[in-house]
Amino acid sequence: MRRPNGMIIYKTDAEVALMKEAALLVSKTLAEVAKVLKPGMTTMQIDTLCARFVRDHKAIPSFLNYHGYPHNVCASVNDVVVHGFPNNVELKEGDVVSIDMGAILNGWHGDHAYTFILGEVSEEILQLVKATKESLYKGIEQAIVGNRVGDISFAIQDYTEKKRGYGVVRELVGHGLGRSLHEDPQVPNYGKRGNGVKMKENLVLAIEPMINLGTKDVFTDEDGWTVRTRDGKTSVHFEHDVCVKKNKALVLSDYGIIEAAEKANPNLNTSYF
Ligand code: MF3
Ligand code: CO
Repeated sequence: MRRPNGMIIYKTDAEVALMKEAALLVSKTLAEVAKVLKPGMTTMQIDTLCARFVRDHKAIPSFLNYHGYPHNVCASVNDVVVHGFPNNVELKEGDVVSIDMGAILNGWHGDHAYTFILGEVSEEILQLVKATKESLYKGIEQAIVGNRVGDISFAIQDYTEKKRGYGVVRELVGHGLGRSLHEDPQVPNYGKRGNGVKMKENLVLAIEPMINLGTKDVFTDEDGWTVRTRDGKTSVHFEHDVCVKKNKALVLSDYGIIEAAEKANPNLNTSYF
């Protein structure tokens, strides 16, 4: 969604604490996915599992019906960048699967994503997954008081596109997060240092690099949602919910529990860790 950077809603410490609960619930949901994901499973089964887990924890899946989105999760496999519909196709060895989940807990949104590798993939794909995850942390390092949103954008683009030659998707961006799924400001994964709004304490952002092995160019399927790479090459997506603080951003979501589950699952490839 493209909107001008208008009103930014800063959160109180109490609100940030509530948002951490929402973000953590999404992390736990993605950890449940990490426990069971394997070739032969379908993304529709993942959708069902995630929706049930969120509802069992007194929260509401937030993507369902959002601007008409027809599912609970976005399941984006291989050349799908983001907003892939869950379907009944069996996942196979070598698939690269991004699961993006949103939940509303006590009125606050958690929204984050993780990319899983099923079994053996090329070294090229492993490096893409590794660099995309690392670029997210490069962006997070910049989410501190006094920096500008462009500092986050630059850090991600520099790490992926300038240093490694990957394609940074331009059409979709990260965003503010709060009582709404998408708040100001937009957080592009490309940009210039020193550009954009200056960040103050307790701005909560969803930072979400979408990085392509080949061209940055994408297109949207006839379903109106599924975003794919133009060249059909693999795309990777990681997303964290982050609160701007003075010296170091506070990451509200938790990859630690997802990674632990991933490592314990022999069907998932964690050799790039
Ligand atoms: N993390 C994605 C985003 O911020 C989630 C899309 S939600 C959907 O855009 F409902 F639009 F799919
Ligand atoms: Co998001």
